[in-house]
Amino acid sequence: MNIRPITFRKSADDILIGGCSLTDLAKEYGTPLYVLDAATIQQNCQIFTKILTEHYPNFSIAYASKAGLNIGIANLIAFEGIGADVVSGGELYTVLKSQIDPKKIYFHGNNKSIEELELAIANHIRLVVDNAYEVALIETIATRLNKKAKMMFRIKPGIEAHTHEYIKTGHIDSKFGFEFNDILPLIKKIHGSEWGEFIGIHAHIGSQIFDMNPYYDLVSILVGFMDTIYSEFGIDIPELNCGGGFGIKYTENDQAPDITDIILGMATELKLLCDGKKRPRPKLVFEPGRSIIANAGVTIYTAGTSKPISDGQQYLFIDGGMADNPRPMMYQSEYTFDVVSPSTTDQARYTIAGKFCESGDILAKNIVLPIVKPSEHIVVYGTGAYNYSMASNYNRFCKPAMILVNNNVASLLIKRETYEDIIRYDAL
Ligand code: LLP
Repeated sequence: MNIRPITFRKSADDILIGGCSLTDLAKEYGTPLYVLDAATIQQNCQIFTKILTEHYPNFSIAYASKAGLNIGIANLIAFEGIGADVVSGGELYTVLKSQIDPKKIYFHGNNKSIEELELAIANHIRLVVDNAYEVALIETIATRLNKKAKMMFRIKPGIEAHTHEYIKTGHIDSKFGFEFNDILPLIKKIHGSEWGEFIGIHAHIGSQIFDMNPYYDLVSILVGFMDTIYSEFGIDIPELNCGGGFGIKYTENDQAPDITDIILGMATELKLLCDGKKRPRPKLVFEPGRSIIANAGVTIYTAGTSKPISDGQQYLFIDGGMADNPRPMMYQSEYTFDVVSPSTTDQARYTIAGKFCESGDILAKNIVLPIVKPSEHIVVYGTGAYNYSMASNYNRFCKPAMILVNNNVASLLIKRETYEDIIRYDAL
């Protein structure tokens, strides 16, 4: 997978994405500006759907909408036959308003509220259950609404994936999910009940994972759990959800695995294990987020001035920063930068500093770029995932607009916030 969108083209004085000039987009829509390339999202979806259609046709892909969601993105994903993983009432509400097939929606969360569960159960959404208290809530709500809730259990597989501490989830002390043995009495309670249907198990081992081995371990651990469920209850689970987390390349230093290899490897392993045990193959579900949308997105900034630092570098100021991209501050994430229309080939060493009132508001340290003059544009690649969705109004910053580019046409996906929006909910 490329760092840049697949439609990226560079000339001496501009960069084009989806056939649209970044200079023109910046002029028309202002900066900071998120730009998403439809063709890259489509291609990323098709990487999953193509390999699985060929090798494991009983599958479902649920885009992890926390990576980036609005109605436009949801409709683009729906067109590729993909569903959604949602983790809140807000995400659920958004996808229910889109063309995504409700049968392909999975609702996660370690502390779902009664209102959230009601919305999900009323719409027959698949629930990824996190704890026993949630099962009790579901029983009450489903009984009251006279519905049968579809439930899969999230399990901690006990796998240590090597990624940032904050985005690790499969280890045994994770706040998410059950220890396997704890789900057995719950399966017993649900099985054959009026109010609930047990549809399978789920595990997600973390995010931005480069090593393929934990994924293969995951399949064999989950098949072991499937065996136990079969021998205890005689149930062959209908669905096996292996989560997401596939690592992608943000910089040339990243050694990201090929997604096709991982998916094919996991599907093949699952087939072999099920066939070997003469058990039916469950529906295989994946929940990719970053690997669908990260490299489809770029952010355009306008440079301000630069300021010397004692070690020979300079700060280069941009008109955004931690509020539109908190990832470098939260996870020490690194990105790839370019100058859209450089006015010189002479280079300088820069630390890219945002405009927010925090010394830590730094998007990159010690990178080499052509010398940048005030009002020139900088582009950052790979900002399609977890940038807008984690953006804030810190310092009463107006969240930027997001544009979809497709075949030389730019369309507004999300409007830029205004100062009026900033005071809209001030009630006194
Ligand atoms: N499924 C579940 C249950 C998840 O918790 C997540 C991500 C995914 C799927 C999708 O993972 P992906 O394919 O996007 O790696 N804010 C962090 C990432 C947090 C991921 C949380 N869960 C970041 O900016 O790197």
